[in-house]
This record gives sequence, structure tokens and C-alpha cells, in this order.
Amino acid sequence: MALKVQLSDKVYWLGFNDRRKHLFENQWPLEKGITYNSYLIDDEKTALLDTAEAPFSGDFVNWVKELLNGKQLDYLIINHMEPDHSGSIKDIIAEYPDVTIVGNRKTQPLLDGFYGVSENFKLIAEGDTLELGKHTLQFFMIPMVHWPESMVTYDITDKILFSNDAFGSFGTLNGGVFDDEIDLNTTCFNEEVRRYYSNIVGKYGIQVQKALAKLGGLDIKMIAPSHGLIWRSQIPYIIEKYNKWSTHVGEKGVVIVFGSMYGNTEKMADYIARFLIEEGVKNVQVHDASKTHTSYIINDIWKYKGVIFGSATYNGGIFPPMAHLLSDLEHYGLRDRCLGVFGSSSWGGGSIRIINKFAENIKWEVIGEPVEARSTPKHVDIEMCRKLAKAMAEKLSDIK
Ligand code: FEO
Repeated sequence: MALKVQLSDKVYWLGFNDRRKHLFENQWPLEKGITYNSYLIDDEKTALLDTAEAPFSGDFVNWVKELLNGKQLDYLIINHMEPDHSGSIKDIIAEYPDVTIVGNRKTQPLLDGFYGVSENFKLIAEGDTLELGKHTLQFFMIPMVHWPESMVTYDITDKILFSNDAFGSFGTLNGGVFDDEIDLNTTCFNEEVRRYYSNIVGKYGIQVQKALAKLGGLDIKMIAPSHGLIWRSQIPYIIEKYNKWSTHVGEKGVVIVFGSMYGNTEKMADYIARFLIEEGVKNVQVHDASKTHTSYIINDIWKYKGVIFGSATYNGGIFPPMAHLLSDLEHYGLRDRCLGVFGSSSWGGGSIRIINKFAENIKWEVIGEPVEARSTPKHVDIEMCRKLAKAMAEKLSDIK
């Protein structure tokens, strides 16, 4: 028997928890798994909003059939073509060969490219509506949140926004489907919503801002994303988060990331962390770039205004795991961070120069004097670490 989880009288959630996949998009660790959500509207005309990833296809089609209870599926609305949501399209078409596929002009080539599907396509554009009976759906384009064809579907009747990747999260739904069914503070959601945002959508902050402005005039009672919780009690909370993250507002706190071969740079990181605490900074996170996946580090950097990078010099340049992190951050274009710099080298040096060049490229403000130790940090280096921590704490002191 299939689960019947209803958003409203005729609107059903169909979601799959994926606890087996290790890497989303073959690169993002899924320690807490991920959920793929789709939705079914069982009106005079029936409509399915997106599908599920291919491994769930058999169960997905059976779930749709059970909810429709012998009725035909009239529309398959494609909000997004990435395979985590489109992976069951061909199986849905095989089960319902007369289904009309609804998408925009950028959906078409992707649908053809991924699945060789081009028939029974209903082309819609910005603001178009689709009548199902009691429900009227309206479509809005949100390009690059997360792909060019990304769009959202708004149920005018029940005031539900089917928001696609926007407002989604890593992490499985462990029984709770709606935001008020769980305690947000004691679950992974606060961290995993931001890790999803920063790593998957974060590069497209300008487009997120445009989407928020466009959708801001709608009367929204529920936000139903394609991953994670459905928002109905804390809609202002998640919208405020998106507004903050997409405009790169940093909170009071410091993320220290080090790349250390023999422990000398790590020692400096620990001194700086302690000195920051002594200066009254309450939120200090320390990451070893060799051990912690960049998605977690970037997640913290997206949250906090202060960043301090330290690297050993390696082959006259920067330690490779740190180089990877700097490259990712430049790619995302995160703005408005304050940067402290430190490192160690045993002869020529080089890592400090590269971190400073990174700061110049990404337009982050360098705080205090860079600290470079020769091999093991000495008393003079440690005192410079103290000065760096003090300068950073002073810089952050105005943030509430
Ligand atoms: Fe969840 Fe961009 O796909």
C-alpha cells in the first residue's frame, strides 16, 4: 500500500529517500542521504509534477498508479530536467503513452537530449496557466535556479508553490514531510539546507534574487520543493534564509581552514582559534582541508563573515587541498568576506602569495598581517597569530 501524504485535498506528495547514494551529482557527499520529491494533483484532469531518479522508477510508477486508481495521467509537468527529477519520465510515458508533457522552450532540447522524447509536448511560457478543473496552475521561469530550463509551478487554487530545487535540502525525510512535523533545531536541516544552497545553487545568487522578487507577489501557503521538507509553517524563515544567502550576508563568526603536511600550519590554526575565542568571538570553526570535503567548508564560509586560510608551502606553491578550496570559492564568487592569511614553509615559501592573489581575485578584504612561520611556529609567529586574531575580532565586532 502506497503512502498517502496530502498537501491539500487533491494534492499528494510522492517522495523517495535515497540513503544508498554516496555522492550527489557524483561529487557531493550524502552522509544524511537525500530525498527526491514529486507531486500529484488528482483533479478532473490529473497532473504529475516531476518524477523521481531512475533507480526509484518502478516504485514511483506504481505509486502514481495506486493514487490515480485507474484514472489516466493527463499532464506531466517538468519543472526541471536534471536526472534526479527526470529519471522516471520514460517509464511514466510507457505507462501513460497519451500523457501531455508540459515544459518551456528550454525544456524541449534537454528532454530530447536526455531521453529522445519530443512528442506530446505542450509548450508553455512565463505566466501561462493550465486548468485542471478546480485547480489552476501557473508557470514562472526561474532560469539557473538551478538549470536554464528551471521553472516553478504555482497552484493558484491551493496557493502551493512547487518550487523545484529552490528551498530544497540535502538529507532524507525521516518520517516528517512538513516543516512543522519535526524540530528543525534538532535535525540536520539547518545545516543541510544551507549546504545544499551554497554548493548547488550558491553560484546563482543574482538569479535567486530575481526569482525571489518575481515570486514575492504570490500568496503562498506552502512551498513544496523537489528535495527535503515541505514548508508551510516557517515560510518567512526559509525565504529570509534564501534572501540572506543569495546576497552573501555573513554572520558573526570565523572559519579557519588549514592545509598542513607536518602539523606546523595546523598548530598555527589552533593558536588563532584560541586567540579568537579569547577576543570574544563565539563561533569559530576549524577545518582540515585534507580531510573535510569542500562542500562542508564552503557551507560554513557561506554562513560566517570571517575566514582565515592557512597553508603549508608545497612545491613552491599552495598545498593542493587548499588550492582546490580556493578554486571552488572563486568559481562560486562568494562576496563580502574578511580574510586572514597564515602558513608555514621550510625554505622558499609561496602559499601566502597565492592566498593573497586569491583574495585580490575574489575581492575579499585582507585583515591584519599575513603570518608565515619557518617550519615550526616560534614565539614571534604565535604572537603574530594573536595579532591576526585580534584584528579579525575587531573587524567583526560591529556584526550583531
Ligand atoms: Fe535536484 Fe538540479 O536537481
